Amino acid sequence: MMLEEILEKIKPREEERERVQSIIEDLREIAERVIEKSGEEAEVKFVGSIAKDTYLSGDHDIDMFLAFPLSTPLEILKSKGLKIAKSIGERLENHEISYAEHPYVRGTYRGYQVDIVPCYNVRHWKEVRTAVDRSILHTEWVIENLRGRNDEVRLLKRFLKGIGAYGSEIYIRGFSGYLAEILIIKFGSFMKVLEKSDFILRQKIIDPGNWLKKEPEMAMKTIKREVDEDKPLIVIDPVDPRRNVASNLSWERYGLFYFKSQEFLRNPSKEFFFPSAKRGNYLKAIRERKTHLVTLLFKPPDLVDDILLPQIEKSAKGIKKQLELKGFRVLGYDYGRNFIMFEVDRIERENVEIKKGPLYYTNHGQRFYEKNEKVWIEGKDLWSEKNVNGFIVDVLEEIISKGAFSSGKNVRDVIASSNILIDFVPKELRDHAFLFLSREKFRVK
Ligand code: UTP
Ligand code: MN
Repeated sequence: MMLEEILEKIKPREEERERVQSIIEDLREIAERVIEKSGEEAEVKFVGSIAKDTYLSGDHDIDMFLAFPLSTPLEILKSKGLKIAKSIGERLENHEISYAEHPYVRGTYRGYQVDIVPCYNVRHWKEVRTAVDRSILHTEWVIENLRGRNDEVRLLKRFLKGIGAYGSEIYIRGFSGYLAEILIIKFGSFMKVLEKSDFILRQKIIDPGNWLKKEPEMAMKTIKREVDEDKPLIVIDPVDPRRNVASNLSWERYGLFYFKSQEFLRNPSKEFFFPSAKRGNYLKAIRERKTHLVTLLFKPPDLVDDILLPQIEKSAKGIKKQLELKGFRVLGYDYGRNFIMFEVDRIERENVEIKKGPLYYTNHGQRFYEKNEKVWIEGKDLWSEKNVNGFIVDVLEEIISKGAFSSGKNVRDVIASSNILIDFVPKELRDHAFLFLSREKFRVK
């Protein structure tokens, strides 16, 4: 059976398990020693897919939480927590501080990426105070409820990765590992989850914790909020009725799952789990499409993806809007840490801008007549025209240098000093340009 072949590849073998266990033991020892020296009372807890035994073979990401007593004031948790995390990081191979909504330290140890995250040692959702506190409860809930179906989770996660629907990061908006686990717990197996791709969307609400019975008011409030925001799916967190586990899931990523699972059921193949890289020549794509590729290249500020990418996306949308106001048709846009790309219908537009004015015998008309250089009449109306530079590079330069587009505050300046490239990208963006032009990101057919 094909699924068994896939499992061969994604299920960690004994050797890997032992390595992970020994790394965890090392990390626990290092962390406990640092905590003891600090005089604080935090407890070391491992969460995430390693703790739940739902990680994919070869995944090198360990979530280590420092759980502080609830009596710790938030400010102390943040300052002391970060300080302890830092000194744990210093004992690893290298480390850096990541300022997400909740600051934490990311280090490397024996080839594994270790996130060291201060949090509260919560037992109950009412005690949750920071965004990361729930992870401890998630880990316990999954361990309690998964009951041996760990490999089904692995299959689903690998499938979602293969079709490009995995990852709850704000710039991906796909399925999180925790959501995949809940779906397996709810529907029983990888194949059953796939069979339900249409049903899940129609039913819309999944309530594995029975909150609609236990906390109806709270649960209804969550449902209403998420429905109002037009979320594709509402999975009331079994450990916290206030939260939708799928709140970061976009319609696009669900759509990939929707079409790809139907296709898989009709026509199963390993390609879904391990797609061959789609490659092609972006220059050929440009020629065949008779469009143009305009790329802004810039040097990004030193921020984590979670903060940086949403700002770049916002800027891309803002610039697209301005380009359209200037008469270019923008067929699509894409972006990454150091670039924004547009596909446009042309790179030159007419060199004149024509503007309709007011009635010629009014005060407004008088003013229009005085203000503009070249003015003529059509019927009762005044019209004017001015010469402009119609080359897209000049138009773009004007837009970005004036900052005349909505954007994120940390990126406006670097974007303003972008290099603008036409129908050409540097080597490292060639594949990306091809994928963009062929709309691979959300392609379902
Ligand atoms: P991870 O994103 O590392 O997920 O978040 P994971 O379950 O370990 O899966 P993989 O195998 O690494 O991809 C760690 C924990 O943070 C919480 C969950 O409790 C998860 O187990 N989390 C993360 C969420 O609740 N929601 C999210 O969107 C992301
Ligand atoms: Mn993880």
